[in-house]
Amino acid sequence: MPENYRHCFGLHKEPFAADIPRQEILVTRTLTAVCDRIHYAISLGALALITGEIGSGKSTALRYVIGDFHPSEYRVLSVTATSGSILELYRQILAELGVENAGASRAKMTRRIKQEVLDLTLGKKMKLALMIDEASLLRLEVFAELHTLTQFEQDSKPFLPIILAGQANLIDNLSYRNSQPLASRVVARCHLSGIDQNTMQEYLLHHLKIAGVKQMLFDDAAVTAIHQGSGGLFRKANHLARGALVAAAKAQESVVSAEHVRRAATELF
Ligand SMILES: Nc1ncnc2c1ncn2[C@@H]1O[C@H](COP(=O)(O)OP(=O)(O)O)[C@@H](O)[C@H]1O
Ligand SMILES: [Mg+2]
Repeated sequence: MPENYRHCFGLHKEPFAADIPRQEILVTRTLTAVCDRIHYAISLGALALITGEIGSGKSTALRYVIGDFHPSEYRVLSVTATSGSILELYRQILAELGVENAGASRAKMTRRIKQEVLDLTLGKKMKLALMIDEASLLRLEVFAELHTLTQFEQDSKPFLPIILAGQANLIDNLSYRNSQPLASRVVARCHLSGIDQNTMQEYLLHHLKIAGVKQMLFDDAAVTAIHQGSGGLFRKANHLARGALVAAAKAQESVVSAEHVRRAATELF
């Protein structure tokens, strides 16, 4: 049945997909607020923090804002703190800088990153920004390292602004004594909480449109059920909405009801 549900509703592609292209991202008020803060921090060569629960739209916001920075003027180094270790982070930053063999030691990697950053900013007159997604996974010592890595006193303005995105414990980690030099450079913060019910309605319709269906397939009670069941968080809403479409198709109904959402919810973690 899952392979048929798209056909039942005339959906041209998988709805509520995780990897939507930039031009299909819904520009909510919150997304605009996040982008404004990121632009502000970058213009000051400072730090911005974007926190939010899993699935609240942090990575999507980063992906969206990157599109604002024209590659002729900006180099945005975009990395994800997968293991939390400094070496892994440095390797990713070096890869973003196009450097392959910088050596395996922390000292060599630090030197090489600094050299590249200076070359790009002073030599090539590029503007740089470092964006670290999943920064709440970074080990505590990394915050102290990052401060020294990204500071280049020249006219007393650091060259490398940083955007850190992650779950709320990122704030706790930045409150530790050794993180404070880095934390003192924070000029903007934004917390993404769940969206409200009206925005959820708009969000569901938006994703249906992307998948090729113009009319609203969810009745009001279904929207309420998805909003409540997801806590307004995008990723959970995606799973509930898609699961509810499958349940409605199975029941051969053309409109998705709260009951279909409830059936979908029993499948989710
Ligand atoms: N502004 C948006 N417009 C459309 N879809 C979005 C938007 N924000 C989030 N999503 C959807 O929600 C999913 C989860 O968002 P994501 O940015 O990965 O959350 P987080 O990084 O906070 O865990 C995305 O894969 C995408 O499908
Ligand atoms: Mg993410």
